[in-house]
Amino acid sequence: MTNMREDRKKAFRNALGNFATGVTIVTTRDEHGRPVGLTASSFNSVSLDPPMVLWSLALESPNMAAFRRASGWAVHILSADQEELSNRFATRGIDKFAGLDIQDGPEGAPFIANCAARFGCRPTFEYDGGDHAIFVGEVIDFVHSERAPLLFHGGKYGQVAAKAPAVRPDRIDQDGAFGRYFIGHLLHRAHNAAFAELRREYRRRGLRSSEYTVLVSLGLGDGCTRDALLARAANGGVDLPLEAIEQLLARGHLVTEGEMLHLSAAGRQMLTELMAVAQAVQLHFEDSLTLAEMTQLNHLLRRLSEVAPRGRH
Ligand SMILES: Cc1cc2nc3c(=O)[nH]c(=O)nc-3n(C[C@H](O)[C@H](O)[C@H](O)COP(=O)(O)O)c2cc1C
Repeated sequence: MTNMREDRKKAFRNALGNFATGVTIVTTRDEHGRPVGLTASSFNSVSLDPPMVLWSLALESPNMAAFRRASGWAVHILSADQEELSNRFATRGIDKFAGLDIQDGPEGAPFIANCAARFGCRPTFEYDGGDHAIFVGEVIDFVHSERAPLLFHGGKYGQVAAKAPAVRPDRIDQDGAFGRYFIGHLLHRAHNAAFAELRREYRRRGLRSSEYTVLVSLGLGDGCTRDALLARAANGGVDLPLEAIEQLLARGHLVTEGEMLHLSAAGRQMLTELMAVAQAVQLHFEDSLTLAEMTQLNHLLRRLSEVAPRGRH
């Protein structure tokens, strides 16, 4: 194994990469009291009683001396929104602690805030681990939060998602299980829930859903022709009846200028009020979901539109 060919090395690394891990930052202070740290995924639990953990450091690391002489080091399990910190602490030769408010934990190592968990350790053993040194430490202090952890797998970051229960094909017709997992139904339910408050508000103002769509579509840009407006709505997946435009014209929410349709002052005022409701709903979602969940949700919804089967007609 010592003279592994390059392609074998790569294959070995790829095989190891199939072991999904969390991501940690290990910190300590060097002989001058300067903070040092690096990103490490080699962390593992060793013993419950006494509480012990391990991680390994590449022998070539410029931080080897600091960790060897340290009287304390700390392992920080990163949370899902700390990807930037992970990249920063995996970059050699930069000021990794720039802008961080560094306090020390009880073991004397820098404390990185907002992690999923932190283990402050007293070093107990160092083992030879080939081109790495394996550090084992006794945990003398730990903290734990509800934050979801950052994951690493196959060279990419990830985050925890509960495994969806498999639907047994033979049960589909018996108990309607498929209906509960069909992505179309789930989206429909989520759409209804997300729009409930907004729908109540535009209905209270005497608008139907197609008329609301006209207001929003016109609000997206300057005035446009009827055809362009229908095309804009169709782009968002809505088949607008022409009648919706005529209704809004009759009620004075739209005005015409030659061929062009515009929002009237009253129409713009109504749209502004409705967008304030939409923003409050959005804020509610942002408060209720983590940043990582919001990012993932955005990404998945866009992907879903891209990969959805197109109709045959
Ligand atoms: C997800 C991830 C996991 C890593 N795990 C380790 C590890 O367990 N041990 C190690 O020595 N380097 C590991 N590295 C690489 C170091 O973070 C990187 O080499 C860094 O430059 C080391 O800091 P230093 O050069 O200041 O010592 C990892 C990098 C990433 C992105």
